[in-house]
Amino acid sequence: MCKVGVLQIEWGHRFGSMERMTWGRGVEPSFRAEQLPTDTFPVLKYIPSWFPGASFKRKANSWKGIRNATITPPFMKVKKAMVNGTAEDCFTLRCLQRLERPDSRHDNLSVEEEIIKNTAGTMYEGGSDTGSTALLTFILAMLCFPCAQREAQEELDEVIGKERLPDHEDEDFLPYVKALVYECFRWQTVAPLCKYFRFPIPHRVDTDDNYKGYFIPKHSTVLANVWGILRDEKTYGPNAHFFEPKRWLLKCSGQRGWKLNPDMREPISISFGFGRRACPGKHMAVSSFWLSVSSMLHSFNITPAIDKDGNPIEPKVEYVSASQNRPAPFQCTIKPRSEEHAALIRRALDNDLE
Ligand code: HEM
Repeated sequence: MCKVGVLQIEWGHRFGSMERMTWGRGVEPSFRAEQLPTDTFPVLKYIPSWFPGASFKRKANSWKGIRNATITPPFMKVKKAMVNGTAEDCFTLRCLQRLERPDSRHDNLSVEEEIIKNTAGTMYEGGSDTGSTALLTFILAMLCFPCAQREAQEELDEVIGKERLPDHEDEDFLPYVKALVYECFRWQTVAPLCKYFRFPIPHRVDTDDNYKGYFIPKHSTVLANVWGILRDEKTYGPNAHFFEPKRWLLKCSGQRGWKLNPDMREPISISFGFGRRACPGKHMAVSSFWLSVSSMLHSFNITPAIDKDGNPIEPKVEYVSASQNRPAPFQCTIKPRSEEHAALIRRALDNDLE
């Protein structure tokens, strides 16, 4: 899920194009630059900030200030708008409406309101860069595997046509698009070592366990090799390293030809983490990703960029191991598939900005 969508869901704020580009720049370093040693060794939180080597505590304090300065104003705006009866429907509004004892003072927050404010902030933190990374992977896959793009567009043309954009109700009728979404999360998972931001997120085993002859004692720290699981040739076959939506599908005799293979375990239960710390935003993330992918495929062609001599630039699968498993910067051309598709997109944009 991308930044703009998350912001709208949390605070009901529709952003103009300039705001879209600049909002949250100050806060981003604190959200995504790195995890702190305390995430892996919680006991370090007891070290005083003046202690030699405890610079991470000073850093955390300064980030706390930036974070607060970013997430407090939109929260206060919703709180004020709720009192005036002008608030847009959003997560913060719904939570505030459920409070038994809302704090009527505009400049004060009750403990419950602090929790709502910080939960919305955490959604921004978890949901913005991850969603854009997944979308970049999708665009790169469409460049490198044009066959998959073409087959998905054929399905969309048949089921949706040119008069409207796809909607969630269409999901079950678009098995190829669903398989393509699965393949994006499998082929280049956003968090390969269940790594979130720069460090892996360790998980703790809460009971003794035996796995294939290995004894894993209670309280052991385990790092899940998500990349390995999702590229396992025993499950995905010798072409596990290729982008191939059809691996999730079975050919059937019906009009449209494909259905999801019930014997293939979908990748969402792996690529969004495990256990109690599994991504709480995964349903929101997957459904907004599906909508973005199906709308883009429906209305645009994604093709290689053209160099100064008029030749297509060969796309390369190159990833940087930064905060997430993100494609290295690449160029491409994204153009409406036809005049009718362009008009459809313009109408959707006008409706959105109204
Ligand atoms: C494509 C989009 C996304 C991906 C690939 C993704 C992936 C992940 C992964 C791998 C984890 C670590 C899970 C673990 O430790 O086992 C995680 C945690 C988390 N995610 Fe997501 N996520 C996405 C979108 C979102 C969204 C939209 C939200 C909120 C609206 C969100 C909120 C969070 C939060 C709060 C955590 C920390 C949970 C905890 O530590 O208890 N994520 N995510």
